[in-house]
Amino acid sequence: MCGIIGYVGTRDVVPVLIGGLKKLEYRGYDSAGIAVVNGEGVEVVRAEGKLSNLESKLGEMELEGTFGMGHTRWATHGKPNENNAHPHRDCTGRVVVIHNGIIENFLPLKQKLQAAGHQFKTETDTEVVAHLIEETMKSGARFVDAVRSALKQIEGHYALVIINGKDPGTIIAAKHGPPLVIGIGENENLVASDVAPLLAYTRNIIYLEDGEYAVVDQKRVQLFDEHDNAVRREPKKILWDAVMAEKEGYRHYMLKEIHEQPRAVRDTFTGRMFEESGDIYFNELELTPAQWSKFRRVHIVACGTSWHAALVGKFLLEEAARIPIEVDYGSEYRYRNPIVDEETLVIGVTQSGETADTIAGMQEAKAKGAQLIAICNVIGSAATRMSQGVIYTNAGPEIGVASTKAFTTQLTAFYLLSLYVRQLRGEPVDDRRYAMHEMRVIPHKIEHLLKTQEKHIERLAHKYSTAQDFLFLGRGVNYPIALEGALKLKEISYIHAEGYPAGEMKHGPIALIDENLPIVAIATHTPVYDKVVSNLQEAKARDGKLIVICDEGDQAIRNLADDVIEIPWTVEPLQPILSVVPTQLLAYYIALRRGADIDQPRNLAKSVTVE
Ligand code: G6P
Repeated sequence: MCGIIGYVGTRDVVPVLIGGLKKLEYRGYDSAGIAVVNGEGVEVVRAEGKLSNLESKLGEMELEGTFGMGHTRWATHGKPNENNAHPHRDCTGRVVVIHNGIIENFLPLKQKLQAAGHQFKTETDTEVVAHLIEETMKSGARFVDAVRSALKQIEGHYALVIINGKDPGTIIAAKHGPPLVIGIGENENLVASDVAPLLAYTRNIIYLEDGEYAVVDQKRVQLFDEHDNAVRREPKKILWDAVMAEKEGYRHYMLKEIHEQPRAVRDTFTGRMFEESGDIYFNELELTPAQWSKFRRVHIVACGTSWHAALVGKFLLEEAARIPIEVDYGSEYRYRNPIVDEETLVIGVTQSGETADTIAGMQEAKAKGAQLIAICNVIGSAATRMSQGVIYTNAGPEIGVASTKAFTTQLTAFYLLSLYVRQLRGEPVDDRRYAMHEMRVIPHKIEHLLKTQEKHIERLAHKYSTAQDFLFLGRGVNYPIALEGALKLKEISYIHAEGYPAGEMKHGPIALIDENLPIVAIATHTPVYDKVVSNLQEAKARDGKLIVICDEGDQAIRNLADDVIEIPWTVEPLQPILSVVPTQLLAYYIALRRGADIDQPRNLAKSVTVE
């Protein structure tokens, strides 16, 4: 996701900003830009694509200054081109803003500001912040007060860094969601999205908390809470090396990405669901009720973990759409001559947007006249270029080969799509409002789960790490999670594992059960809960070792299982987003115990671009 760097001090700022942005490249981006203050003027230089494009532009200019900021953008609102690249400015060009996150209420704010005469130059949600500050300063407010007023008007998730040409030497940094850190140097201070770009200058770091903002100049850093009360916080000394800094102190990218899921899921629904009106809005996918009613069937095409997300998607969409839905592996779909026509909607699900088999399946469908949409994490990738509509999962770059946050954001996208279909079919708004509320609290539930269960799962991983085989069971919406849990375990620990629908166990896998077989089962409350419990009793009767993922406080399961992993309650369609997290952690800690190369498992590739 977007990278942020800001500097005030005595050094030549351009190399500091470019060097900092290079350290943030691993976060992924599609354009970049910097702002440098010189006198009262602010010079902004931006470029589409890689940092080298920005550097070539800068090479042709003479930009001087000791105060400025830089940004790498991962597009959410508006195309990834130079005009939408950050920094963004107000009408005077002096108030300059960079931003990571989403301003949810930017549209009404923009309309109000336009009515007051503000000229907007970009399609971004960010630009509204610069104009809001300008508007308040027009009536004589100080820069800091105008920012305070703007922060009270915006809603959403943001890390914002703001400067004002008329106030040289002051950086304001505000956090509500995405991370922001401040580096305390000698006669210089910095702000950034994470510590990686700061380590060249200082190891004294202050982490901003949600709702806080900082007013930073060359000598001082003042912190305030959301009620504008001063906050005192001593800097922490960071001893990480550069590689650890990119992993934010986690031992592996996979673990970091598991922990990023609350943020990633939130970024995927933010700005797309509006509880007050009950509306879902996708800026890159527009269907009218008439267009929707034309579809007679839906095909979903994917590979690997994305294929498991597609299976959950089928469950959710079929319930919402009441038309037949088929899910295929890309490698099968492309050769099986599927029945596809103009009345078929085909959804390609792919994190990278480049998986050869998925792309080939999508091409096949398009050639046969289907409407094509993609659920994808990478802007501008092949899958997005060939599709008529796209739902971007805002997971941010996923570096660990075993997919985690990409998967939970794909589930989020399918959930939103199912609500969108209900909206297109004219179903009652009230049901959607409740469904949206349950979605909105999911990130907190993932955080709670990580906090309460991770250590326990690590202990279980030690207990079961020598097993040779695992069986994963689930039913209904949690059946694909059994498949995903088994896949994760084999991918990174190299233990053989199978995922099965719990009801199907008696037709085969039951023959494998003895006291040496750990069985990971998902038994949360759904209409088939009692059936799952019966299946588990059958396994228990054959001495299988039961590790059961269940709702918090489920005593019946506790009495039956050898070990339980408790997850917070949620509505059935959202359960997979929670129930998959323990399976990710279990695979991770078992692989760690067995000394496997977790981020680069043998023989696997992050993106398989060959057949
Ligand atoms: C590879 C990766 C998997 C991924 C699959 C599909 O096999 O190792 O983690 O799920 O490709 O990738 P996609 O980018 O299309 O989602």
